[in-house]
Amino acid sequence: MSSKSDREHFEEYRAQTLAKHTIIEKYIYAYFNILKGQGGDNLVYIDGFAGRGTYDGPNGPVSGSPLRALEKIASHPGLAKKVTTIFIEKDKKLYDQLVRSLKDFHSKHPEIREPQWGNGEFSEVMTQQLDSLEKADARIAPAFVFVDPCGVDGVDFNVIARVLKSQAKAEVFLFFNIEGVRRILGLKDKMGPTLAKLLGSEARAKELLARVEACSSPDEREQAIMMFYEDLLRTQTPAKYVVSFRVEKEDRRVTSHYLIHAAQHPLGFAIMKDVMWGVGKTAEGKGGLALEQASSVPMKMLFTPEWESIRQSILAELKSGMKRVSYFAVELVQRSDNRLCSKAYKAALLELEKEGKIVVINKNGVGVASKRPMKNGVMTLADEYYLKLP
Ligand SMILES: C[S@@+](CC[C@H](N)C(=O)[O-])C[C@H]1O[C@@H](n2cnc3c(N)ncnc32)[C@H](O)[C@@H]1O
Repeated sequence: MSSKSDREHFEEYRAQTLAKHTIIEKYIYAYFNILKGQGGDNLVYIDGFAGRGTYDGPNGPVSGSPLRALEKIASHPGLAKKVTTIFIEKDKKLYDQLVRSLKDFHSKHPEIREPQWGNGEFSEVMTQQLDSLEKADARIAPAFVFVDPCGVDGVDFNVIARVLKSQAKAEVFLFFNIEGVRRILGLKDKMGPTLAKLLGSEARAKELLARVEACSSPDEREQAIMMFYEDLLRTQTPAKYVVSFRVEKEDRRVTSHYLIHAAQHPLGFAIMKDVMWGVGKTAEGKGGLALEQASSVPMKMLFTPEWESIRQSILAELKSGMKRVSYFAVELVQRSDNRLCSKAYKAALLELEKEGKIVVINKNGVGVASKRPMKNGVMTLADEYYLKLP
């Protein structure tokens, strides 16, 4: 049986839950449409910590991640036919509610594949599935796997690594409870098995503890934890493209958790950064890889690039000569070490153009492109234009 807080989680629909749901639904719609276009006839969405299906909202029930995902899948005939959905929930009471919601949704949307569900622990259910696929010499279809625990418990690095290794198009989207990780690290030699499971071994848990103990400030400790976990994903799984979205507490300038996306393909990585950037809210007011709920000045974190540094990086790149917009908006954003996205680059480029710090050149490379199409009263900037310093 789950803890009381697992059930209480559904009694309030918070801004951070809405942000998480918005990221998921926007991303899976784009991701599955790309895979479908690449000839994928069988795609899989797995919600490993599915919850009860709905939240209590001020004006009645609000859809949780299972229904949000199904709504997106049902909204496109191509996805409705091709995406299999699987929902896992450990708590029997929440599971029973979930099954009712899923059955109800399917009865109203018979065009989607019938959702599948299981009452159990994510790691155990996934291990059984992967074992039986392996026995049959088969492998999982391209899958988007959502790992959304309330705390740290129940997340097994080795299962996540196995999912990613099992299929080159598998991706994982994970709720990383850094507050819980910090609390466990504070227990030092009494850490117990939870952190070892999250990181994949006891030796890694000890190594992280040593790194954190060598830090001298809370911000440094936070960055050490995130670097460690992101590096584990990049080096111990085939997911070379990892991006983290920081969610601040509602009432304090302290990080509550991160949402981490681990992908094996640069396109998914670039799309996810755009989606996260659009959902993000920072004290700078420019969007970003963070939901800053309490800060009135931005936190200087490695994971949330500052606006001025984006502008400076563009000007530095243009010092070596004229470049296409696509160099920033397509090429750089697909590099695994680049935390910026196309949306951010384009907004910064337009801002620099307005200030006269860069010039936009026609698609044929000759003459200033001063008459470009407008969208919502704003000049657009297609990938094919060129850019140079004045
Ligand atoms: C944050 S809630 C999930 C919310 C849901 N993904 C949503 O956005 O609507 C976490 C859920 O995971 C369940 N849970 C906790 N440990 C689990 C485990 N090891 N395996 C599967 N479910 C688990 C809890 O009972 C709870 O319902």
